[in-house]
Amino acid sequence: MSVVIVVGAQWGDEGKGKVVDLFTERANVVVRYGGGANAGHTLVIDGKKLVTHLVPSGVCHPGKSCVLGDGMVIDPHTLLEEIADCQSKGLLARGELLIGLGAHVILPYHKLIDGLREDHGAKRGKSIGTTRRGIGPAYEMKAARRGVRMRDLLRFDRLRDLVTANLDDLAPVITHLGGTVPTASEIAKWIDEAAAAGERLRKHTGDAGRHVANAIAKGEHVLFEGAQGCLLDLDHGTYPYVTSSSTIAAGACQSAGIGPTQIDSVVGITKAYATRVGEGPFPTELHGAEGERLRQAGGEFGATTGRPRRCGWLDLPALRMGARLSGMQSLALTKLDVLANLPEVKVCVAYRLDGKELDEPPTDPDDIARAEPVYTKFPGWGKLPSDARDFTDLPATARAYVDTIERMAGVPFCLVSVGPDRSETIRLRDPFA
Ligand code: IMP
Repeated sequence: MSVVIVVGAQWGDEGKGKVVDLFTERANVVVRYGGGANAGHTLVIDGKKLVTHLVPSGVCHPGKSCVLGDGMVIDPHTLLEEIADCQSKGLLARGELLIGLGAHVILPYHKLIDGLREDHGAKRGKSIGTTRRGIGPAYEMKAARRGVRMRDLLRFDRLRDLVTANLDDLAPVITHLGGTVPTASEIAKWIDEAAAAGERLRKHTGDAGRHVANAIAKGEHVLFEGAQGCLLDLDHGTYPYVTSSSTIAAGACQSAGIGPTQIDSVVGITKAYATRVGEGPFPTELHGAEGERLRQAGGEFGATTGRPRRCGWLDLPALRMGARLSGMQSLALTKLDVLANLPEVKVCVAYRLDGKELDEPPTDPDDIARAEPVYTKFPGWGKLPSDARDFTDLPATARAYVDTIERMAGVPFCLVSVGPDRSETIRLRDPFA
């Protein structure tokens, strides 16, 4: 039996989808544990593309149990579309999906508030750059104990009372933000649509926490799939430029309702360079042609919003922080191929701030923005063989780059990805072993 958490080590979009898909070969249960449809995982299987926002990336292995944990915020309409898309591709054919009844639900007014706040903030140069998927407002209402949960979708009277009370609370906020308060008939339509979606999802709902605990007790392999990345964590990330959930490994226990003593291993995923979407400090960001080259080569456009991602060199202080926050025991390196054919590759090994060298980012976002990256340079390595399956198949300079990251991050690699396809992978260690 092994329980493994896979977590993004940077600001999200590290290529977790591919890694979770690979690790799922050995797992019985795959659990998505945080966030909602703000995430977007692009999977390429036999050249065919599947984008998931809510359903765990392990879905591509028929017969595995896919769980949406109680710590998530779920847009029921998006989930229904995603289930239909998976089923049209022959996946989830046996309905192997379980949605925690305690997960919170995202309804149209959460998205309305998210968008209004972003527009309002933008006018003052203070937006977060959210995905506008209603994530923040849904978690706010959860913390205020006014949220709507999956279980409430299945009880019409409760759903109606909760939504009506929510909109009473929110009407002055909507007006203040320059929005239009929904009419009674719009609200009634939202309630009816949510109830109908709940009915369609009913057969997939249940006690996700017990399901996961029972699987662990039976000695099955359980894989927790993190969303976003450690530096977007609500408590420990680059606040306020973060998401509203716990993205670090500890969030897996919180969401699924299992104890930390059940976890055997934590794997962090890092890209061979860095990206960030939305606002917030990013010391190694490349502007102009260099950034554009990485963006095009890496296809760095949001799977959820289509927004161009900000691109830069790999940031070891940020990676060290992610590794510390999640207690990573191994790392998976993705998209090494994107750095092919560059004249020179750089990696930030420290920050310089007010005359001092720092091995991790300072705690204040303004200080992170002021920090100057200290770089180590590598000569480019030309083409990377996509049929590399052994570490020694890589060019010497690429190996030196990977070795330096491993040594300076202080965490060994378990996998190096050299292309988007499942097969384009160098496997070094089995996290379930
Ligand atoms: P929210 O999660 O939509 O509230 O967005 C908050 C911040 O997290 C914004 O900077 C988003 O761009 C970022 N974010 C949310 N989800 C993801 C993701 O899956 N990948 C990368 N960034 C994300």
